[in-house]
Amino acid sequence: MTSPGHDTAQQTPEALQAAAKRNLWMHFTRMSSYSDHDVPVIVRGSGPYVYDQHGKRYLDGLAGLFVSQIGHGRKDVAEAAARQGSELAYFPLWSYAHPRAVELAQRLAELAPGDLNRVWFTTSGSEAVESAWKLAKQYFKSTGEPSRYKVISRSIAYHGTSLGALAITGLPGIKEPFEPLPPGGVRVPNTNFYRAPEFVAHDLAAFGVWAADEIERAILREGPESVAAVFLEPVQNSGGCFPPPPGYFQRVREICDRYGVLLVSDEVICAFGRLGYYFGSQRYGYQPDIITFAKGVTSGYSPLGGMMVRDRLMEPFADGQSTFLHGITFAGHPVSCAVALANLDVFEKEDLLGNVRANEAGFRATLERLGDLPIVGDVRGEGYFYGIELVKDKNTRETFSDDESERLLRGFLSPALFEAGLVCRTDDRGDPVIQLSPPLICTQEHFDEMEQILRSVLTQAWSKL
Ligand SMILES: Cc1ncc(COP(=O)(O)O)c(C=O)c1O
Repeated sequence: MTSPGHDTAQQTPEALQAAAKRNLWMHFTRMSSYSDHDVPVIVRGSGPYVYDQHGKRYLDGLAGLFVSQIGHGRKDVAEAAARQGSELAYFPLWSYAHPRAVELAQRLAELAPGDLNRVWFTTSGSEAVESAWKLAKQYFKSTGEPSRYKVISRSIAYHGTSLGALAITGLPGIKEPFEPLPPGGVRVPNTNFYRAPEFVAHDLAAFGVWAADEIERAILREGPESVAAVFLEPVQNSGGCFPPPPGYFQRVREICDRYGVLLVSDEVICAFGRLGYYFGSQRYGYQPDIITFAKGVTSGYSPLGGMMVRDRLMEPFADGQSTFLHGITFAGHPVSCAVALANLDVFEKEDLLGNVRANEAGFRATLERLGDLPIVGDVRGEGYFYGIELVKDKNTRETFSDDESERLLRGFLSPALFEAGLVCRTDDRGDPVIQLSPPLICTQEHFDEMEQILRSVLTQAWSKL
């Protein structure tokens, strides 16, 4: 039921707060934590900063949720949405095209590596991952290999929440309530070198070979004729930014080719400049069969996701009577496509990829200064994408117990960092980490601001242990 005076523009901060508590259900949020304190309400943004309803400013060290590449409050991109809304707000991509979807598909095909020339739009990353699995299954059914349906992904990796995507996700805690999930998800080790097995712990190259070969061993164990695809992020987010060891992706590509398995690069986070390239696979020099994307493609000015597919995967659907039996009403929404084109214009005009490449060493060096704190075990990542792993003992790398982690991350760090003016993410789905992924417009002054806030709050956290 609505309450009287529900026009948001009229609401006082107190009324909005009450309604947030009464009517809104936040995602992946322990709602009880708002029983004794306020729901943070963000009302506007400008560049790398956002502001709450009391006018307090925060540095958006997470780009919303790995989304706001160009920063907040860009009128040019918002106006592109308004123009498209008045010209053609909606038409489906089911049997029809509209100009913005065509233009965006063409532009993405030009930017993507190799012959990823076919673009399938969705509205989100989960739908993109789900679509890639469905395409892999139908492709193999159409090409005489109907037993290929399994998907290999890495431990702790997050690939989305819809049931198919969740079956690919490697986080047991968020899967358990929804079991049984679609069958076929197979897990392999990730590339967390900080916690590498002892026999490869001192040799990054050997670790990379081992981790890639674990994919081959999984394919052989499952039976190559049953495996459809391997889903990997260029840099794995969940667990706190695991970059690939040198040569890892080249070896994975060879393994996939040897067994006829598709390589899906899940770039929902890593595309659109996060790693200083349009696509993360370009940074590491490998050719995916499918790239999934979302988030940064519009910098969040409107929702959009999709997958880019190599020519040969489209062939069974290109003639005869075959159709990819899949579709989503709002996929490739005209407003979102117009926004994505305007977003890419900003990338070009402001050379955002150049900005990331020019400043990423400074970002790394600034975060590495935190290494003098006893609680900071590891600082890892690439581009504008970093994880800081927190430990109880730097020398032994001992991590926190579940209880300590609960008290430290949820009880203290999350609220304290926000209170101190930094939006970032504390995550304990693997070992406890703080994740940073700022807008691509950020420069040294913003890195310094992040470092100062982190230093002060992490110092307090240590004293509370
Ligand atoms: C690598 C990866 N894949 C898929 C997803 C799911 O995207 P969405 O939340 O848009 O469904 C995410 C979301 O963070 C992601 O990081």
